Amino acid sequence: MQTIDDLDVAGKRVFVRADLNVPLSGTTITDDGRIRAVAPTLAKLVAAGARVIVASHLGRPKGKPDPQFSLAPVAVRLGEILGQEVVFAADTVGDSARGAVDALADGQVVLLENLRFNPGETSKDDAERGAFADSLASLADLYVGDGFGAVHRKHASVYDLPARLPHAVGLLIAAEVAVLKRLTEEVERPYVVVLGGSKVSDKLGVIDNLLGKADRILIGGGMAFTFLAAKGYEVGSSLLQADQIPTVLEYLERAEKNGVEFVLPVDAAVSGSFPDLKAQAPVEDFEVVPADAMPAGKGGLDIGPASCELFAAKLADARTVFWNGPMGVFEHPAFAEGTRAVARALSEGDAFSVVGGGDSAAAVRILGFDEKTFGHISTGGGASLEYLEGKTLPGLAALEN
Ligand code: 3PG
Repeated sequence: MQTIDDLDVAGKRVFVRADLNVPLSGTTITDDGRIRAVAPTLAKLVAAGARVIVASHLGRPKGKPDPQFSLAPVAVRLGEILGQEVVFAADTVGDSARGAVDALADGQVVLLENLRFNPGETSKDDAERGAFADSLASLADLYVGDGFGAVHRKHASVYDLPARLPHAVGLLIAAEVAVLKRLTEEVERPYVVVLGGSKVSDKLGVIDNLLGKADRILIGGGMAFTFLAAKGYEVGSSLLQADQIPTVLEYLERAEKNGVEFVLPVDAAVSGSFPDLKAQAPVEDFEVVPADAMPAGKGGLDIGPASCELFAAKLADARTVFWNGPMGVFEHPAFAEGTRAVARALSEGDAFSVVGGGDSAAAVRILGFDEKTFGHISTGGGASLEYLEGKTLPGLAALEN
């Protein structure tokens, strides 16, 4: 892979595909980690005299403009972080984008509107994607891929565009890949993996792959209830993917055969309804129950205190940890303790820890942990999982040749 040092960028229009898909509450950015993560690449290009065109997706709009997914607030924050004006173009390949790019002087930066406002970005049809990539290519002389969080997507700006322009990998992708390689090659043991988040179906591929590699797998979050149901427990109104129970059972059996320790929650914090995240109102019917005695009509929204202790103990001797997915609804204080306990164990422990995934990375920052106390906080959730599954990632493959 070429790096940006291999490109002669001075005076050139350089298209940077970033992942600026940040969480928003209205127009307020609640975690700017992904913006800060790509800033060093942009600053380097600016310092080298490039005319920088930044592009990204945000959320999942349906191929047409939708104001709630506008990147306009991101342009403002990016400007603050870079310490210079970031011009915002109100479209991707229309008059606004072309005018803004034509007006760029060396060292200036423009951010295009959300790439997914154009149906060609995510189209499954090669010709439609290719046509959009052609239009994007006509804006620029060079391409830098630095949107690590989106490299698992076969999208026009990620996969088709690099084939149309001389290209290189940005500093962020280079750093992310170096860390993930460390998890797939010689891992220091014990290697402990902590998985959470809502859906077990999103994690099956990675569990399948890790059953031959990890020493211990800790399961929390909504996905834990499918495991508990597979063990025959009642899970009340908790999230449950009943169709995944046979697969989960097979994994539990394979883990036992391979000597991989599977650790499930032993208790859960439950409520009869989903908490109000906006009002942050106290949860009147909050209770902690053993994992094998969950009341009907209530659902688990976090792992309980005994599970927090158990998980911390299972992380204490780890030399390498990969963590993806929160342990509960950490956005509400009543259900943040599980995620806090895992974050604390990693932050205070001396294992090489990798936190992957928009949600868990945001959780670490929102709960007030110092990012520097973790080995690496990845900007990619799905991307890091698919990398660890051993899949070929379209956005990395496109930068290879
Ligand atoms: C992410 O948040 O994981 C990336 O930005 C990719 O977003 P997507 O899942 O909508 O493609």
